Amino acid sequence: MFGFKKRAKRVLDKNNIPKHVAIIMDGNGRWAKKRGLPRSVGHSMGAKNLENIVDFAGNMGVKYLTVYAFSTENWKRPKEEVDALMKLLKDYLLDFDNLLGKKDARLRVFGHREELSDEINELIDICEEKSKHKTGISINIALNYGGRLEICQAVKKIAQNVKDGNVNVEDIDEKMISDNLYTYDVPDPDLIIRPSGEYRLSNFLLWQCAYSEFWYSDIFWPDFTTKKFEDAIIDYQLRNRRFGGV
Ligand code: FPP
Repeated sequence: MFGFKKRAKRVLDKNNIPKHVAIIMDGNGRWAKKRGLPRSVGHSMGAKNLENIVDFAGNMGVKYLTVYAFSTENWKRPKEEVDALMKLLKDYLLDFDNLLGKKDARLRVFGHREELSDEINELIDICEEKSKHKTGISINIALNYGGRLEICQAVKKIAQNVKDGNVNVEDIDEKMISDNLYTYDVPDPDLIIRPSGEYRLSNFLLWQCAYSEFWYSDIFWPDFTTKKFEDAIIDYQLRNRRFGGV
């Protein structure tokens, strides 16, 4: 009678869960700064938060969750911060059996492995091997990952195949490029989430994001709750994806 409209309750549609969600886990540094803490504490809290989101996304039915943990450009950060991030990743892999290993979750690492330490590379191999039979959610950690580098490497592999006479130039197509990326057997991300109030891709999944939906939030990653994740999925479900059609 006063003209107030009751807002419709936003409900998750369990039949339209995105298969692949990718997250740029941004804002750890500012989260820590706001509390007068070292940036490394922000990263640790960010890693903790990932655990909650992994469980929530897995229970919801998301099949692939790709998270940006360290970019090819992140080496430019102060040594202390790079070391702290590498230690965090190492500890995460060392604790695999108590964390991801207990879940129906597969772990994969996408990125340029050569620059990582032998110890981290060995741990990655072990954790990937241990979890490769899991059929639940696949957690893909983008580590020393850069979209441009990934595409360059794919181009090099294809060029070598042409040089060796195994591929004709005319046969190079989008599928061949996709087949030579880290994500060769993973569907393109349906949804890319970036918290912390930044609105850029930062060299993340450049080839794969052609028709991804984007979702942004001002909240720093360590504070990004499962409720926020659900909000992002509900918003995604309200989008009209046309893939260039009508
Ligand atoms: C960006 O925030 C975040 C990173 C460069 C690192 C993200 C890494 C983690 C959350 C840890 C992941 C760990 C595991 C075990 C998977 P920022 O540092 O740029 O924050 P700022 O923009 O506020 O400075």
